[in-house]
Amino acid sequence: MLTMHNVKKIFRTDLVETHALRDFNLQVDEGDFVAVTGPSGSGKTTFLNIAGLLETFEGGTYELDGKNVSNLSDKQRSQLRNEKIGFIFQSFNLIPDLDLFDNVDVPLRYRGFNSAERKKRIENSLELVGLANRMKHLPSQLSGGQQQRVAIARALAGSPRFLLADEPTGNLDTKMALSVMELLKEINDTGTTIVMVTHDQDLAKQAKRNIYVRDGQVSELSEVVSLEHAANA
Ligand SMILES: Nc1ncnc2c1ncn2[C@@H]1O[C@H](COP(=O)(O)OP(=O)(O)OP(=O)(O)O)[C@@H](O)[C@H]1O
Ligand SMILES: [Mg+2]
Repeated sequence: MLTMHNVKKIFRTDLVETHALRDFNLQVDEGDFVAVTGPSGSGKTTFLNIAGLLETFEGGTYELDGKNVSNLSDKQRSQLRNEKIGFIFQSFNLIPDLDLFDNVDVPLRYRGFNSAERKKRIENSLELVGLANRMKHLPSQLSGGQQQRVAIARALAGSPRFLLADEPTGNLDTKMALSVMELLKEINDTGTTIVMVTHDQDLAKQAKRNIYVRDGQVSELSEVVSLEHAANA
């Protein structure tokens, strides 16, 4: 349901060309929970931003839910993103002067739901992350883990097929990271497909599948481990 074939991304500045993705190949099936690890600068965020239709790419093809999204206009891309994708960032990206209710409402406003429908979705998703009783609080009145749970509620409120998360536990202590991971697993159990970038091997192991990105290319972690094993043998 998410298929990338030979996707390329080059960042150009006056001085350098960075090949962030080179022939990036990946298929993610419905219901999967994929953890993405790899060195800093290897292309993980670039991949996730392209997968989430936040960024364009140059070569190759990308199919999302059976639809070729290689040549969409900006407007088509943001429509599709809003409908199918929930995105979670390392730094939560909540709006500081909106309370939790209004933060979760932000992406719903673009979806054409009426206000009763939006209210129901906001309450349900805040309920799911255990923060229904904090609806009128501001983000600054919450702990880091709670703020990330609001960001998860915001990502889920529109019932996306895909949840993409870029180091969702990167700013959290171990205990909060584990509770966010538990929440993501519950969400995956209800059928949402998840792709999560993480530096944390222990969290990655809890996903259904692990892939490893190096130099803008992807390999299954099992292959990397057995290759390294063979090299060391
Ligand atoms: N907007 C940009 N302009 C120029 N180069 C960029 C841009 N964004 C990313 N890059 C380069 O592309 C490469 C891949 O970056 P990316 O952010 O995808 O890495 P990453 O695997 O997410 O790293 P980290 O683990 O540190 O978050 C890096 O060499 C980076 O410097
Ligand atoms: Mg990154």
